Amino acid sequence: MNGRIGSGFLESLKIQANLKRLQGSLRIPGDKSISHRSVMFGAIAHGVTTVSNFLPGDDCLSTIACFRQLGVKIERNQKELRIYGNGFAGLTEPGEMLDVGNSGTTIRLMLGILAGRDFFAALQGDSSIARRPMTRVAKPLKEMGAFIDGRKGGGYTPIVIRGGHLKAINYQLPVASAQVKSSLIFAGLQANGTTTIIETEQTRDHTERMIRHFGGEIEKRGTVIAVKGGQELEARDVQVPGDISSAAFFLVAGAIVPNSEIILERVGLNPTRTGILDVMKKMGAQLEIFEAEDGGFEPYGDILVKTSELKGTVIEGEMIPRLIDEIPIIALLATQAEGTTIIKDAQELKVKETNRIDTVVNELSKLGAKIQATEDGMIIHGKTQLSGGRVSSHGDHRIGMMLSIAAFICDGDVFLDKSEAIDVSYPEFFDHLKKLQD
Ligand code: S3P
Repeated sequence: MNGRIGSGFLESLKIQANLKRLQGSLRIPGDKSISHRSVMFGAIAHGVTTVSNFLPGDDCLSTIACFRQLGVKIERNQKELRIYGNGFAGLTEPGEMLDVGNSGTTIRLMLGILAGRDFFAALQGDSSIARRPMTRVAKPLKEMGAFIDGRKGGGYTPIVIRGGHLKAINYQLPVASAQVKSSLIFAGLQANGTTTIIETEQTRDHTERMIRHFGGEIEKRGTVIAVKGGQELEARDVQVPGDISSAAFFLVAGAIVPNSEIILERVGLNPTRTGILDVMKKMGAQLEIFEAEDGGFEPYGDILVKTSELKGTVIEGEMIPRLIDEIPIIALLATQAEGTTIIKDAQELKVKETNRIDTVVNELSKLGAKIQATEDGMIIHGKTQLSGGRVSSHGDHRIGMMLSIAAFICDGDVFLDKSEAIDVSYPEFFDHLKKLQD
């Protein structure tokens, strides 16, 4: 990395290509999904919740700002938080619009919390949030009794909500989404009766684990989740493990840059999130996983990755929710695998921070990848020598990080536009890249 060139809108980050090796170890920053939830659970529990290794990314800072506006005292120093919760009833009507920034998790989960509160709130975010569908949470929350409205018939931000007096429902999720599931669980905790939620496929279960950690109850039988209303939670300390979705960029970097050996420390190993490890192993990556024995409510461990000979694979079905956020970086990995990789059943990618089928295919094509979009995923042919060029994150943090790693194996320099988007989930990303090159 040679710093930024240009200025203003044309500012572009030059990333050095053709790396000879990556070596060293990294302590991966806190998990984004768990960091968001730690603030939310701390806010609705009774007592003082301490959170260590909190991720200070822009998304999680948006969650803190929103809960402060809802009257919750939150202290933050470096990576530690103290949240002074007073139960659901301690939340108060915000004086101004709640701004969720770029964070889909913040807005969707918060709508579930607000659905049970008898006051008015208005929510909005950035231009990416304005394109993301909210009907998936608004529809069931309205069925439970909340008033919700918004742009384009109620399904898009700005969204307004007036909650209170919820009744339990039985709801079959139409999409495999942890955000929708979690939103309904938060509403279910405040409803009259027992809410049941049926998942099509298992998605990340951090909300369920955290309810139990905070002394609450949630039942799970197969794909059916049941949550009793009227529960009060107790403050707990939360130790956030490293984010496997952030580690993923270095797992792939270690596998594709020549002569590399990287150790990633204290990475979350929740089985609902480890699809990338399974896929990389299937593709032939040299990975060793050392799971920690002290357990905790979220498993974690260290991962060693070395430069690997890779082969193509098919990624589909129930694997998709276990690696949904890793698909951009897996696409890059596939460009370095012999043969064809097919990713299907991943239409949800179209409604992420960007349409990630289009952004991955367009940006990797600019670097010479043989990749084509399909209706529900993409097809990648390898192994291809990538070339330099000018690419853009399109304001999507994971696209920005994927392209930065791609640069390492290009035969010419890469200029990355909108690199600042990476701060959403990994403010230390470029420092960590540099550390492995020293
Ligand atoms: C998240 C769930 C996933 C994921 C997102 C974080 C969460 O979204 O893509 O980055 O914290 O619950 P969906 O639930 O929409 O699939």
